[in-house]
Amino acid sequence: MCLKGVEILDHTIVVVGTQWGDEGKGKITDYLALKADMVVRSQGGNNAGHTIRFNQQKFALHLIPSGIFNSGTKNVMANGMVINPRALMEEFEMLRSKGITSFQLYISDRAQVIMPYHLEMDELLESLKGEESIGTTKKGIGPAYSDKTNRIGIRIGDLLKPDRLKIALDNALAFVNPVMKTFGRTEIDSTEVFNEYIEYGKKLKPYITDTSLLIQDALDYHQKILFEGAQGTMLCIEHGTYPYVTSSSPTAASVPLSCGISPQSINEVVGVTKAYTTRVGEGAFPTEFENEISKKIREVGHEYGTTTQRPRRIGWLDTVILRHARRINGVTGLSIMLLDVLSGLEEIKICTSYELEGKIIHHVPGHYEDFLKCKPIYITYPGWKEDISNVHSFDELPKNCQNYLYAIEEFTGIKVTIISVGPDRDQTVTLKKYFE
Ligand code: IMP
Repeated sequence: MCLKGVEILDHTIVVVGTQWGDEGKGKITDYLALKADMVVRSQGGNNAGHTIRFNQQKFALHLIPSGIFNSGTKNVMANGMVINPRALMEEFEMLRSKGITSFQLYISDRAQVIMPYHLEMDELLESLKGEESIGTTKKGIGPAYSDKTNRIGIRIGDLLKPDRLKIALDNALAFVNPVMKTFGRTEIDSTEVFNEYIEYGKKLKPYITDTSLLIQDALDYHQKILFEGAQGTMLCIEHGTYPYVTSSSPTAASVPLSCGISPQSINEVVGVTKAYTTRVGEGAFPTEFENEISKKIREVGHEYGTTTQRPRRIGWLDTVILRHARRINGVTGLSIMLLDVLSGLEEIKICTSYELEGKIIHHVPGHYEDFLKCKPIYITYPGWKEDISNVHSFDELPKNCQNYLYAIEEFTGIKVTIISVGPDRDQTVTLKKYFE
């Protein structure tokens, strides 16, 4: 019997978006990645966009994990991802042009490949839906995931096996081409696509491996592993605002499945939230508002999509969805982003619950029609005038700003562990030390 000491390990951290994506996960991931031995991207594809700034340079990553800038860090693109090799080649080129040539990258042989027809299908489906369209990124994400579950998807490993690739491609096109024909689109030429993709296989071969084994090795050696989130909980195919969601689950719960490791492997879940809320694409958004204040937030916060450049919709912070995210993900600490953007506002609102058909509710309703009807119930807090972008500790923050953060903790039940007051790495206040 040994009760001498229970080792509390902080070796694995999941960074998860608690809103509709674009919470600023890229900055926090980059920040934590500095200390990580391995950074893993588990799901999604180049619908994501992570902006990272350091040394006066700005990098936009869509597929490659954020640890790519540290040559000592292993970067993994795991089995749950959908990977567009054309987009990956562009990202390699971007890194090369910025002088990033020494890096460690591993790509799962089980990850799905986004094929050219997935982009066409995405666009076609969106146009057929008309006013009901989702506002996807048109990167082929949904069709790639549906081919996966229809078992006509092409895996990264298939790119290394010409005979298999031919069969898999013909299987997929037997379904895809009649659809193309029906809707007056050009049918996909199997040989052309084969020739292009077999070349990608050759280029990607040095990176392709069984990443589940690789991550397990890192776990066995107690290495520090960062699971980098993409999108956000409200875009989850299971627990988001369905059908206005992405086609995968960007939650902490999906990480073990999407990486091929055990659920017990996760120690910490950092939930990332903006100090307000944004959304791109269509779908319900209870705290959304459009006036001079939202315009100011959009301009000061540069609220335009990294992937599609669309102006983001703006709303007040919604703690109902943050509690939803806490429950779904088991969030252990909250990282508040873009707090500096709220400086100078007279008043700031926090949504604490909704009114739905005359009743007060404290949760996100399951049916989208009900969510659309939810009216936010707010508590209003006085704002602060001071510029906080050079603050390095909680104590230096203006009193009203501190009170705003205390209110967030109170209504979410989650400790604030990181505060971001600007885009640069050193504009970060940490209240808990991670990976130490
Ligand atoms: P899809 O993932 O391209 O199919 O798009 C589905 C929905 O998710 C759309 O509303 C997109 O705008 C949204 N979405 C997908 N990825 C991201 C992201 O990384 N950030 C924010 N929104 C996203």
